[in-house]
Order: sequence, then C-alpha cells, then structure tokens
Amino acid sequence: MEKKEAIKSFEELFGATPTDLFTAAGRINVIGEHVDYCGGKVFPAALNLRCNVYARKRGDSTVRMAFRGIDGIVELDTSKLDSYRGLKIGNYQAGVAYFIQQEGVEIVGCDLFYDCTVPFGSGLSSSAAIEVATAVAFYEYAGVTYDKVKVALLAQRAENQYAGVNCGIMDQFASAMGKKDHAVLLNCSTLDYEYVPLQLGEYCLVVANCNKPHNLVESKYNVRRQEVETALKLIQQKLPVEHLAEVTPKQFAEIKYLLSGVVAKRAEHVVMECDRVNKAVEALKAGDLGELGRLLNESHESLRDLYEVTGKELDTLSGLARKEAGCLGSRMIGAGFGGCTISIVRKTAVEGFIRRVGKAYQDSIGYKASFYETSIEDGITVEKL
Ligand code: GLA
Repeated sequence: MEKKEAIKSFEELFGATPTDLFTAAGRINVIGEHVDYCGGKVFPAALNLRCNVYARKRGDSTVRMAFRGIDGIVELDTSKLDSYRGLKIGNYQAGVAYFIQQEGVEIVGCDLFYDCTVPFGSGLSSSAAIEVATAVAFYEYAGVTYDKVKVALLAQRAENQYAGVNCGIMDQFASAMGKKDHAVLLNCSTLDYEYVPLQLGEYCLVVANCNKPHNLVESKYNVRRQEVETALKLIQQKLPVEHLAEVTPKQFAEIKYLLSGVVAKRAEHVVMECDRVNKAVEALKAGDLGELGRLLNESHESLRDLYEVTGKELDTLSGLARKEAGCLGSRMIGAGFGGCTISIVRKTAVEGFIRRVGKAYQDSIGYKASFYETSIEDGITVEKL
C-alpha cells in the first residue's frame, strides 16, 4: 500500500492525520534453523517486507488499532492490558503493551493503522514484525529511550508469555536489529552478534511461499522444543553443557547412545545444523557460494528427515528449485510445516526459475506458490510524517 493511501485510510478510520510511521522488518534466515532455542547461532536478515504502523498519539488511556484488509477497529483499555490474551487480532500488540507497562513505562493512548506487507503465516515472521513495530510506537510515545536488543527481548516475551508461542529470539532480533545488505550472525545464548555482508555477486536469494494452509504450527513447534529439552537433560548426564548447541558433532557421536527415537533425531539435527552455520558463514565470507548452497540443501534435508518440520509442499518447492541449473541450493526457512523457502539463484536465471518452478509446483501440489521480490533492509525505522 502506498504511503498516501495508508494515510488516507488512517484519516477515514480515525478522523485525524497520522504523525509518525514506525516500521519493523520481516526476516529470512540464511541458515541455522530450529537452533535458536537451543543456544545456537542463527544467520537471519531483515526484509523489505515489513510491518508499517501509521500512528498518532492521543494521550488518553485507549489504544485503537485498525488493519489493512480487515474491517473494524480493535480497542485496548490500557488499564486492562492483561485481559486481551484471547484476541485473534491484536493479541501481539496487547502483549507488548502489557510487558512495557510491567516495566513501569506508561502506555500512552494512540491510534495505530497497520499495513503489514509480511504475508501472514509465511514463515517470514509477521508476528515479530508486528510486535517490534508496536513496541517502538509505545516507547516513542512514552518518550523513553529504548535499546533495540531489549525491544527484541520484550517482543519475544510477549510472544512466549502472552500469545503462548514458545519461540526463540531469532525473529524478533532480526526484525529489530537487521541491517541493510547484511545478515546477522547471532549467538542466541549470549546475544553477541556480528553483521556479515550478504554479497552474492551474480546470484540472489529468491523467496518462495508454498502457500500451504496454516495448521497447528504453534503446537507442533512447542512439541519440538520439548523434545530437544528432553535430549539436553539426557546428554547432561554425561556432558557438562548448558545448551544443546554446545555439543560438537564428535561429542554427539560418542553420547548418541543415551538418546533414542525422535529425541535422538531432533538432537542430531541441532548439533549438525550448528556446525553448518559456522561452515556457511565461512563459505560466504570466502565467496564460496557453491559450498553455501550445498549447506542450504543439507539443512533442508536435515529439517525434513531428522527434525521433520517440512512436509510435501516445502519438499516439492525446494526439490524443484534444486533441479534448476541456475540454482545453487534451496531450503525451507522459519518454523516449517508450511511457509517459505529461500533459494540461491543466478540473477539472469531468476525469471525462468520462477516460471518453471511455479508451474511444476502447481502441477504437483494443485495450487500456486508465491514468489516475492525481496531486498535486505534495516530492522526498525522511525519516521515523522
Ligand atoms: C520460528 C521461531 C524462531 C525459530 C524458528 C526456527 O520462526 O519464531 O524463534 O525457532 O521458528 O528456526
């Protein structure tokens, strides 16, 4: 939606002109999937697909929210922020407001219009983008300075403890801390991070959504977390580790006998994926894109066979991508069970890639995949209108 159009919608809905635009990014993750909550390193980047919040401060104790494409206005009474957990739309915002208030910061009444261009349920972290952009709006209107890392942690707390999704820190961190044309190598146990230029030369990343209908992703995600927690407890009987991500592939081979069934498979994925992240970052820094692509493929296979979070749709999309001559590698990103893949594709081959993969996917699955034009951008932006 154009800025002008969004401002017009705001005026129609709230009878006043917005004064500010707060935005936060959706994200991709180059590699390091399902390891953030195991203390591993992840390698996400912030996208041009964003949650745009057009805003105006009113100063009373009501937060009014409207959303592009959805009728109606949702109101939050700032004296009852604990009572909106059941909201289908607006619960992320209420959670963020609730935890900011718990910090002793006043939530100042305001009107917010959401133009979110991160597709919902796509694995590109629309929820993190909503949480982070909303938190920025509240902090700005309260007139307090805020640290972007703390914003990410607060947004994660809202998602964990208010919305009930036990996610790690990757999405909110990327949404808040992303940097134009860089991926963020984030150590999720220490929150140390490093920006690495995402320079792919003649290649680019193509983001494709398999468009599988959203179904119980949160509950399946929470089950995976429990499984790796079980694995960690068993491993701790022999190794003095705090996080599963600390276990090296060599150590894992020696203590694997402690685990069995799905718990063993899940743990193996985490250990090997952490190893792949280090290798992938080295490959990228050395300009070895062939190796990076190979590691992306390996990551997908591990998410398919060991972590079991892919499914027919994502496997088909990634498999078709890999058959393309101009593609170096392809994998699912995010929680899985649907959502998006990223593929490293030669720039001159992108058009044919999208056409052929798109057609073959539809022939095989029965509905279309979506392909997005993406670029890597900053996380949070704040603009006076
Ligand atoms: C979701 C979660 C993240 C992370 C990924 C999997 O996006 O929100 O914290 O666990 O899944 O890597």
